[in-house]
Amino acid sequence: MFAASKIQDAFRYMQKGQHIGRIGLCLKSTVMENGSNEVTTVQQDFEPALRPRQLVFGENASYLLVGGLGGLGRAIALWMAEHNAKDLVFLSRSAGTDPQHESFVKELRSMGCRAQLVKGDVSRLEDVQAAFMSAAYPVKGVFQMTMVLRDQNFQKMTFEEWCQATSPKIQGTWNLHNASIAAGHELDFFVCFSSLSGIIGQPGQANYASANTFLDSMVQYRKSLGQPASVVDIGAVEEIGYVSHNPGLMNKMRSMGFKGVTEQELLDAMTVAVTSPDQSKYSSEIAASAASARCKDTASSFVLGLGSSIPLSDPSNRAVWRKDRRMGVYHNFGTSASGAEGRASGNEVVKAFVAATMSDTSLLKEAASANFLAVEIGKKLFDLLLKPHEELNTTLPLVDLGLDSLVAIELRAWWKQMFKFNISVLEMLGMGSLEALGQHAAEGLLRLATEES
Ligand SMILES: NC(=O)c1ccc[n+]([C@@H]2O[C@H](COP(=O)([O-])OP(=O)(O)OC[C@H]3O[C@@H](n4cnc5c(N)ncnc54)[C@H](OP(=O)(O)O)[C@@H]3O)[C@@H](O)[C@H]2O)c1
Repeated sequence: MFAASKIQDAFRYMQKGQHIGRIGLCLKSTVMENGSNEVTTVQQDFEPALRPRQLVFGENASYLLVGGLGGLGRAIALWMAEHNAKDLVFLSRSAGTDPQHESFVKELRSMGCRAQLVKGDVSRLEDVQAAFMSAAYPVKGVFQMTMVLRDQNFQKMTFEEWCQATSPKIQGTWNLHNASIAAGHELDFFVCFSSLSGIIGQPGQANYASANTFLDSMVQYRKSLGQPASVVDIGAVEEIGYVSHNPGLMNKMRSMGFKGVTEQELLDAMTVAVTSPDQSKYSSEIAASAASARCKDTASSFVLGLGSSIPLSDPSNRAVWRKDRRMGVYHNFGTSASGAEGRASGNEVVKAFVAATMSDTSLLKEAASANFLAVEIGKKLFDLLLKPHEELNTTLPLVDLGLDSLVAIELRAWWKQMFKFNISVLEMLGMGSLEALGQHAAEGLLRLATEES
């Protein structure tokens, strides 16, 4: 019997073909052994302190999602409906004009959640007031998720480009703040989606970065008034949202030391932001220490997605924040080489390498790159086979290392994810050694980079 979270181990155990009878997956925390009434406890995955906080949105409450029909907003809305939200109001300039909006409303309805689309601009107070007024119940929470990008070299940036990027976040947030207070809504939360761009900067994004630092300050201001507020400075989200639809941008951000944020990590962060115990209280001690240390009130204001797979001491690390004094603490974090964390960081190492080669293709012509790729492919193969990395030898025949067609199917999926081009199972099995696979990956990446340029 395997715990549901260990489903991969269950399949690998089955793959060995050594078992007799059935293999079971247990979705609860207890399993019955051998049909008896004995109950054994399966080890829990989470330490108590790390267990996700319980989140239940109010039944007789409405929630306002500004920019909620965008990529991240839709994921937040579904997550809210899964957690009992019954009435959501969406405010955006194109609300209701796209056929996809209609099907999204239906999807929410099928989950027992009413959705209202209000077409309007958050930087116009009357549109914000209209959104508040269209709520079926008292509004209990606000998500400010608007974004307009007008990237431009600062010296060439027009005033219009500046305003287009900043007004939804600056004027828009003032409007949300003023309108909610004027209408007397007693909010449980007021969550702003900010960006790492405001913390570490991004070339060409002075306008967007400023808009986001405004959000960080606005949250402190609201808390000083005793109003609930929290802000998350988000990095590059991988699976959903604007960045995920722009692979070039994602690669650029990775090469600059952004760590991809998964949808689940984003939702976990939102749980913390929404349930932050001091949503409505502003501790003057925290404020004072945050101001003096030029850092943030961690309970309601935090960053998500800042990390580097390559050690910060490594000269090849191109993270722009590497020498930033505020990030000094990151230099004390080691990277784990074992277990799931090690595997995750292995993927990040490969992704960072691929991103770096897309901007500097000369790397791919070096023999060291093919060797590096051979080792990383080998590590993945050994992870799939549950073998220790220490036994890796890139010159041995692939069959001797344990590569068969079943494992090749899994390795191929990982290959596609990492290198963005396909390899067939037959091709993989026919390569002979990891060295040859590493060389094949380097050549494929070079071809891709040349095509893109
Ligand atoms: N995706 C990421 O990786 C990432 C990373 C860091 C931070 N963030 C933050 O996360 C939030 C959501 O990002 P996303 O990827 O979901 O972006 P998105 O898909 O572009 O969605 C942004 C939404 O904002 C709406 N909007 C823009 N201006 C508006 C205005 N004046 N009034 C009302 N609505 C307006 C847009 O709808 P209309 O055009 O119809 O108005 C759009 O639906 C943003 O605040 C962004 O800064 C995202």
